[in-house]
Amino acid sequence: MDKETRTESRDKKRTVVIGISGASGIIYGIRTVKALKELGYKTEVILSKEAKKVAKIECDIDLDSFFKAQDSIIYDEDQIEAPPSSSSHIVETRGMVIVPCSIKTLAEIANGIASNLLSRTALNFLRVRKRLILVIRETPLGTIELQNALKVSKAGGIIMPASPAFYHSPQGVDDLINFVVGKILDLLKISNSLYKHWHTVTANHIPCDQTS
Ligand SMILES: Cc1cc2nc3c(=O)[nH]c(=O)nc-3n(C[C@H](O)[C@H](O)[C@H](O)COP(=O)(O)O)c2cc1C
Repeated sequence: MDKETRTESRDKKRTVVIGISGASGIIYGIRTVKALKELGYKTEVILSKEAKKVAKIECDIDLDSFFKAQDSIIYDEDQIEAPPSSSSHIVETRGMVIVPCSIKTLAEIANGIASNLLSRTALNFLRVRKRLILVIRETPLGTIELQNALKVSKAGGIIMPASPAFYHSPQGVDDLINFVVGKILDLLKISNSLYKHWHTVTANHIPCDQTS
């Protein structure tokens, strides 16, 4: 392998594909990309049409401008001809995270429906047995959603509900977000100090008997 090919392969291993779909919790996707950039990782971001709408409603943010500022490579869901559509493009990457992952996108992946670049790329990751993490926010989950989640899990994907813990004494919303983002990075085998891991937690109880 020549030097140029080696460098390209090393770069790809420091690339994470991020899918953002139109579920609540767009902030998790935003913070994941920010954390990866801070840790020296590149991101290729695939945005669904609905994600852009939900981002406006939830965060009053334009996702294209935001991710451009993070130096991400950005694709829209209808760019089906874009590089992540090809399994050879993704094979060297670190993995793919869809965060947040809507129930619609979960259903498409579970049933092999590659209707846009987001579900097509996720199916590619499963086909080549690369790490795929779906961060679903929906609650409660009905039988259909649970069956779809099981299908993806059986196919090798990881279903990660966006459910922050409380054992690490969170001091506010930021701590709860960082817990979820830290868990995503753990699953990508990227060491991080975004939350206090279980073995480092010391007793510092949150006031469970107070309402504010
Ligand atoms: C403000 C808002 C919040 C939403 N939250 C969720 C959610 O948490 N989970 C979900 O599955 N769908 C949610 N939806 C509905 C999805 O946007 C909708 O099902 C959409 O078709 C998903 O498309 P996508 O997966 O291509 O992004 C929400 C929609 C809006 C407008």
